[in-house]
Amino acid sequence: MRAQEIIRAKREGHALDNAQIDAFVRGLSARTWSEGQVAALAMAICLNGMTRDETVALTRAMTASGEVLDWSRERFHRPVLDKHSSGGVGDKVSLLLAPLVAACGAVVPMISGRGLGHTGGTLDKLSALPGYRLTPPRRTLLRALREAGCAIVGPSARIAPADRRLYAIRDATGTVESLPLITASILSKKLAAGLQGLVVDVKAGNGAFCASVAEARELATSLVAVARAAGLATTAVVTDMNQVLGHAAGNALEVREAIDVLSGRAQSPRLTELTLELSARLLQLGGLHADLQTARSHAQRALDSGAAAERLARMVAALGGPRDVLADAALPAAPCVRDIVCPRDGVLAAMNTRAVGLAVIGLGGGRNVAGAHIDVRVGFDRIVPLGSAVQRGEPLARVHAASAADAEQASAAFCAALQVGDRPVPTAPLVYEVVAAA
Ligand code: URA
Repeated sequence: MRAQEIIRAKREGHALDNAQIDAFVRGLSARTWSEGQVAALAMAICLNGMTRDETVALTRAMTASGEVLDWSRERFHRPVLDKHSSGGVGDKVSLLLAPLVAACGAVVPMISGRGLGHTGGTLDKLSALPGYRLTPPRRTLLRALREAGCAIVGPSARIAPADRRLYAIRDATGTVESLPLITASILSKKLAAGLQGLVVDVKAGNGAFCASVAEARELATSLVAVARAAGLATTAVVTDMNQVLGHAAGNALEVREAIDVLSGRAQSPRLTELTLELSARLLQLGGLHADLQTARSHAQRALDSGAAAERLARMVAALGGPRDVLADAALPAAPCVRDIVCPRDGVLAAMNTRAVGLAVIGLGGGRNVAGAHIDVRVGFDRIVPLGSAVQRGEPLARVHAASAADAEQASAAFCAALQVGDRPVPTAPLVYEVVAAA
């Protein structure tokens, strides 16, 4: 089947059949389709969309382009579950949720990614832990899953290789923003991970890929419907990303926050609430608890008892990180730490969250080009949440920087990203809505 005919069909707005989609994915993997042909089809899909059936076929074909993990030989006798986030600033939920859900009786082989644009990536956060193996050999991964019940690792090159090539071409050709392409990209990797249940946190707001709740709902609906058609039980939760999640943004600082919240040394109400909400939905989806209330109280108990913290410690040790991460995470620290002070009295009314994410990149904590080195030490912590009463001269956050000049620049960017008003304004709810399979 000629690539040109498939591209022309989509350019004319026709739906592709399964044979055409399979031919495209085969050409993508075998590199018999040139980069130009792949980009042309990606652009035609961007402009003309895909039906649900086409999206399911693309997802299935991309899943089958590589290895599909099968955990049945491991005899875990526990449901294999995972969570995916569409990405945000300060989103360290995975670091809390994976051990928490493991402590509640599931197995969580979480395949995570690097930072994308202004949003952070779980792998970059974990790279702040000395010795932690992001791509361990299979026997080390299995040991972590047996000892801790969870392992947060990077993707192997054998998982959905068609998506790897397609994503790189989309990234370079302005064709990332397409609902069917995003759906197939996310789900092909999750289906290849051999899961029995998936919860997707689709973020909405000024720090998210989807700016509005309506856009996030559309993505959530597509993910849930396509996952279901491909045989993966999935629930999506649309959540707020109009402020940094928790009190820290920056790799090592977020790991610190996650450890402190899990071990009860610090409070982070929105982070904890979101972790419990997503965990409870996952436990219900995995059949561990029939009703959400019971699932939620088990999750709360695993957090309060320290069981989740203990699982994190076991996972980090099994994957080569610090032996007792709860006592000494050995996280690297930036040399220049300063308060960012409030310019006037008032109430913290709004945050340009994307600008805060970009300020972390400006400090060196994220990438402008794929593969670039990052400084895991830098970022912001002690960030005051929206709705807080603030006073002139009081700290709004702390900046961690490699130099005084960087700290000054990032502090100015942080202040410019915040709006201090005169009177309280309602803050957005944390959870906007839940999209479950019909
Ligand atoms: N994350 C992915 O894995 N793929 C996309 O297309 C977008 C976000």
